[in-house]
Amino acid sequence: MEDPLVGKAAEILSRARRVVALTGAGISAESGVPTFRGKDGLWRQFRAEDLATPEAFARDPKLVWEWYEWRRGLIARCAPNAGHVTLAAWERVFPRFTLITQNVDGLHPSAGSTNILELHGNIWKVRCTREGTVTDNRDVPLREIPPHCPSCGALLRPHIVWFGESLDQAVIGRAFKESAACEVMVVVGTSAIVHPAASLPHYAAEAGAAVIEVNPDPTPLSPYATVSLRGPAGQLLSTLKPRETVS
Ligand code: OAD
Repeated sequence: MEDPLVGKAAEILSRARRVVALTGAGISAESGVPTFRGKDGLWRQFRAEDLATPEAFARDPKLVWEWYEWRRGLIARCAPNAGHVTLAAWERVFPRFTLITQNVDGLHPSAGSTNILELHGNIWKVRCTREGTVTDNRDVPLREIPPHCPSCGALLRPHIVWFGESLDQAVIGRAFKESAACEVMVVVGTSAIVHPAASLPHYAAEAGAAVIEVNPDPTPLSPYATVSLRGPAGQLLSTLKPRETVS
């Protein structure tokens, strides 16, 4: 029998034309990518200030790169799950669908999503610390640690937003614009505590959007959600079929 809350969420989605999904680490959990704050979460094993700040990189770029090298190796062995695949398909279901992700693992593009705002960067991109140029780098393992820019020889850094750094203004600006304009925001697998990403569902709700949360556990967003679906994203999103395809 269908869970009535899943039915309610599907009903809300079946009427929507402008939809935004906001994802966090939880959507990749079923692919085997560790979350940050869960039981075996990265921030329970490592100190963010040692590895994910500009100060840490200035102090010890090799250590920081070794940690990213380990994460890149881990993610390279993971494949998109049913949750990523469902969100990629939603680009063809809704007349306007934007995916906003806090994840840096690149599993959304691997699943086929194209209209993506990657708020916190991408672990498969590197940035020259002198020129600012961003390039793809899928080497596993890396050819040197720390890697250097092939054009100017300066250090390369992961193209990731670290603690204490600002998000790309164009990317977060678009995320707020899409959030204000959507009819439904589906918030998947995020602890909803890291700002500005955590503000987006509130911004959408204030502009009149319904908010559907998909997460096995309650979050600070739960009291504000129109519907909270409790369970794993891969399983729930694939059952959350909008009743009919709108065009
Ligand atoms: P967190 O690790 O804080 O939260 C993961 C959320 O996913 C939790 O609320 C879990 O309950 C939920 N979850 C776990 N398994 C799930 C599943 N199978 N399906 C759905 N949900 C599941 O990760 P984020 O909220 O993404 O920043 O963290 C936000 C940011 O903090 C990250 O982008 C990262 C981190 O520091 C940067 O890297 C810049």
